[in-house]
Amino acid sequence: MIAAMPMDLILSGGTVVTQNDARDVLSADVLVQDGRITAVGTRKELEKLAGRGARQPRPRLVIDATDRLVIPGLIQSHIHLCQTLFRGLADDLALLDWLKQRIWPLEGAHTHRSLRASARLGIAELLRGGTTAIQDMGTVHHTDAVFEALEETGIRAVAGKAMMDRQEGAPKGLREHASDAQATEASLRESIRLCEAWNGAGSGRIRYGFAPRFALSCTTGLLRETAEEARHRDARIHTHASENKDEIAAVRAETGLPNIEYLHSVGLTGHDVGLAHCVHLSRAEEKLLAKTQTNVLHCPSSNLKLGSGIARIPELLALGVPVSIGADGAPCNNNLDAFLETRLAALLQKPRLGPMAMPANVAFDLVTRGGARALGLADQIGSIEVGKRADLVVVDVERSHTLPGGDVYSRLVYAARPTDVTDVVVDGHVVVRNGVLSNLDEDAVRAEAKSALKALLTRADLA
Ligand code: GUN
Repeated sequence: MIAAMPMDLILSGGTVVTQNDARDVLSADVLVQDGRITAVGTRKELEKLAGRGARQPRPRLVIDATDRLVIPGLIQSHIHLCQTLFRGLADDLALLDWLKQRIWPLEGAHTHRSLRASARLGIAELLRGGTTAIQDMGTVHHTDAVFEALEETGIRAVAGKAMMDRQEGAPKGLREHASDAQATEASLRESIRLCEAWNGAGSGRIRYGFAPRFALSCTTGLLRETAEEARHRDARIHTHASENKDEIAAVRAETGLPNIEYLHSVGLTGHDVGLAHCVHLSRAEEKLLAKTQTNVLHCPSSNLKLGSGIARIPELLALGVPVSIGADGAPCNNNLDAFLETRLAALLQKPRLGPMAMPANVAFDLVTRGGARALGLADQIGSIEVGKRADLVVVDVERSHTLPGGDVYSRLVYAARPTDVTDVVVDGHVVVRNGVLSNLDEDAVRAEAKSALKALLTRADLA
């Protein structure tokens, strides 16, 4: 359980990679009070400030970050916690076969219990590896289970149920409603119910985001109504777009429009929208994303593993498109590792455009500031600055595989691994201490995942 009020913390003696506008890297302590960063400075400066505090100081924990880096919590803008149980069960397929033959039958076999187990396994991996915030797309049913896991584990999230009102060929467990005629209304009704139940949960750490799955799974009516409903509620919109050539050909055949232009025509572009993948875009679509400031959620491992292609990220950044990073789901990656994803985002562009195409510091921006923007939380997270929420990660880069040279960005992006993360703070709460999760028993999470998968495979008839 997460305590209502976090205790005061000091992360002391580390090198602070602030990711502020000036990208300052400071030898400093970070003071955390009431879940916020209240000071970044020398020990003496912090003691003076804390002494001036109006309220009685609560018991204080000092996290020794000597010889370590203190970085903003890593942010992954495209995750499917519902798919973590399916790691290794859908290898070596292209997107549409991967979805139809494996992922949809597996998702359709979820129960509340298996979905909770899947989410807890994914969150354990994410938090242990320094990811403090995610944007998650759930499956069609049982989505309360994902929110329960988000609330209980302490991770920050924008999350929502997958909306799929085009039900032809969908397994029974992924149908929004027994009657096709009522699928659109059922999808919206359930999304609104979840939004009303969970938006703002976990003392504001959890937000609802509307998640129409992709153009091929949704009617035009659902996409339009979702855009209106989400804006009415000031909620984020999260979908997949232009990941695969067969997908964009199908959208064009059905609508007569290129995918992004179609999404624009139904209201699904804008600063409040995140489009996962965006691998196959025309130059006109790239400009449209820039003009509308639509967020591109870049998933380099997934795009390679499903054979989708390489997104033109440097070109999109040059146009001013906001870009962030996500591991996608476990069955198309097969890890949820922010370090690996950031390293790959940088490396992937180098054979295309030369070794300068995506320097380490630019890649690190995507997984911090870019992620914050994609989640609509740029004023709250993504950098270590006074007033921001305290989402902080301590990384030990004095290891054999990270030593001896290199600036902080080189070490973080090209050499560091999730196991180098020692401590993680979300919203001022310590969720990983010395490599151990505070709110989850990892052995129990693994055992529960194995047992839930066994039962699910029997239900899915895919064992
Ligand atoms: N497009 C529609 N659904 C999905 C999904 O679950 N994963 C990926 N990678 N692409 C999708």
